[in-house]
Amino acid sequence: MSENTEKKILVIDDEVYIRDSVIGFLEDFGFEVIEAENGEVGLEQFQEEKPDLILCDLRMPVMDGLEVLAQVREQDENIPIIIVSGAGNIADTVEALRLGAWDYIIKPIQDMNVLFHAVNKAFERKDFIAEKARYQKDLEIANKELKISLDTLEQARDQLVQSEKMAALGELVAGVAHEINTPVGVGVTAASFLDAKTKEFSGLYESGELKRSELENYLKTVQEVSNSILINMARAAELISSFKQVAVDQSSEKRRRFNLKEYIDEILLSLRPRYKKTSHTINVTCAPDIEITSYPGAFSQILNNLIMNSLIHGFKEIDNGEIEIDISRGEGDKVSFVYRDNGTGMDETQKEKAFDPFFTTMRGKGGTGLGMSIVFNLVTQTLKGKVVLDSEPGKGVAFTMTLPELSEDI
Ligand SMILES: Nc1ncnc2c1ncn2[C@@H]1O[C@H](COP(=O)(O)OP(=O)(O)OP(=O)(O)O)[C@@H](O)[C@H]1O
Ligand SMILES: [Mg+2]
Repeated sequence: MSENTEKKILVIDDEVYIRDSVIGFLEDFGFEVIEAENGEVGLEQFQEEKPDLILCDLRMPVMDGLEVLAQVREQDENIPIIIVSGAGNIADTVEALRLGAWDYIIKPIQDMNVLFHAVNKAFERKDFIAEKARYQKDLEIANKELKISLDTLEQARDQLVQSEKMAALGELVAGVAHEINTPVGVGVTAASFLDAKTKEFSGLYESGELKRSELENYLKTVQEVSNSILINMARAAELISSFKQVAVDQSSEKRRRFNLKEYIDEILLSLRPRYKKTSHTINVTCAPDIEITSYPGAFSQILNNLIMNSLIHGFKEIDNGEIEIDISRGEGDKVSFVYRDNGTGMDETQKEKAFDPFFTTMRGKGGTGLGMSIVFNLVTQTLKGKVVLDSEPGKGVAFTMTLPELSEDI
């Protein structure tokens, strides 16, 4: 009974004895009841007293029940309204339900339990609606928070992808420095040797003691040494231009036509410092004449990630790992690109999650878990291709990629 005391019911009816019997009954159940003898007074009571439920007659002087209903609904969509109406008023009752009444009771009320039941049912429904609205609000808040987290995550991912690119570029620069050191070093040695020989030769010439055989010797040396300088400088120039191309492709995301074999060789050259001191080998099988129009930068990033993964994960406990890269023309314009290593491989779970962003078995040891997801995105989105991963523990990994020619704007 006590829980009803907080609930206020407004009874609007022009027949006083009905009001009295209904009010008496509801008060016995602990409800607070207020009353109105016509629609107009009822509406005022509704606005001033803010009841939790309205019991309303239909046929009343001054303002009838339908009008009350319409006006109440305009101000409050959710207040329960129960129509109490004579048996002859079926058409009006139907109209009242259409206007937003929740229920109706036929007058005269022969069994007061019917009234009690209708009132209780209406309050239950009201509670249910309020609860639903609360849930909905909670859901909306949770959704908003989720959206914010998602945005933050996406931003973080973009930043990581960007820093991954910068790291790859950094490696490339280190590779350039390393590889170019040799030909430039040979060139410098040869040039200083030539310098010393020329000084010696000038000395002889100025003293007037120069013999024909010494002149011939000098000329022979000049020819050999300048030849060596030329070869080494040409090698350095070649290295610089291919590194430049790989670097530009990695950072510019431009599409162009290129020879696949030559390009793969250039990429491998830039990665050489990473595996030169190990006994691992990389074997490329690719016809020399495959020219495609595509995004070379994507190829370079894909290969970079796959090779780094083989070196870091696959060959963690293996001294002479083997990487096989098989490229061939597939059906139509497609290129089939198969990458294999004979390292530790992956178990079922690793294989399933390998392409998920942030999946890594090296958390806290330098792995972000982004490498494979970048590969997946590059293959499927940038290159519009497909990639399938095959692996078993102890049997290495095999990535089979099918890449279409991207000659037209897709
Ligand atoms: N060649 C491979 N052999 C064995 N396991 C591999 C190989 N390549 C990837 N994996 C597994 O897949 C996981 C995900 O690889 P991914 O490149 O996405 O992340 P990562 O290498 O751990 O970190 P990141 O590349 O961001 O530095 C790795 O942590 C590793 O467990
Ligand atoms: Mg990786």
